[in-house]
Amino acid sequence: MATPANRLAALADAFRLGFSRAETLVDPTSVVARSATMDRGVYISASCTIAGAVQLGAFAFVNTAASIGHHTRVGEFASIGPGTTVTGSIVIGRGAVISAGAVVLPELEIGANAVVGAGAVVTQSVPAGSLVMGNPARVVRTDLPALGGSPSPLRR
Ligand SMILES: CC(C)(COP(=O)(O)OP(=O)(O)OC[C@H]1O[C@@H](n2cnc3c(N)ncnc32)[C@H](O)[C@@H]1OP(=O)(O)O)[C@@H](O)C(=O)NCCC(=O)NCCS
Repeated sequence: MATPANRLAALADAFRLGFSRAETLVDPTSVVARSATMDRGVYISASCTIAGAVQLGAFAFVNTAASIGHHTRVGEFASIGPGTTVTGSIVIGRGAVISAGAVVLPELEIGANAVVGAGAVVTQSVPAGSLVMGNPARVVRTDLPALGGSPSPLRR
């Protein structure tokens, strides 16, 4: 469950074994706005808040006590860490990771495969494949690997 790459690999194994369904699971202690949408395989852990018009892409993972603000789009396989505050109108790319306790300010874009370090306060958009950390968050790497392609049953 932990990283986007692990989840993608596990999914590929499951499809190879013949599984073809992927449920969306929401812990009953979490609150999800009626206008939020979730693609297949989304998992929302305990005590999360998913606000109005949030869109969660396939196999996105929202960890304990995360808060995702209105009109945010979360790409497939992205991981939203425990206790994070993803404010509003943010675009999070495929396979991106927002680590524990990070805060992402409104209307920013977190690029595909980017990683936001634990406790970071993100005040500017993060380029794809970059690692940022600190307050305010600064880019410390720009060479993070891209997530592989989706296994075939996931392709539309
Ligand atoms: C950001 C992160 C990915 C960096 O990992 P890394 O590249 O292995 O980094 P290192 O541990 O080698 O540390 C490198 C330097 O960055 C600093 N650093 C590491 N993580 C940091 C963070 N989140 N914020 C600020 N500085 C950080 C270290 O202190 C170290 O500094 P130094 O060179 O002055 O000693 C990692 O520290 C992190 O935050 N992981 C998130 C874990 C998490 O939230 N998991 C979710 C659990 S479900």
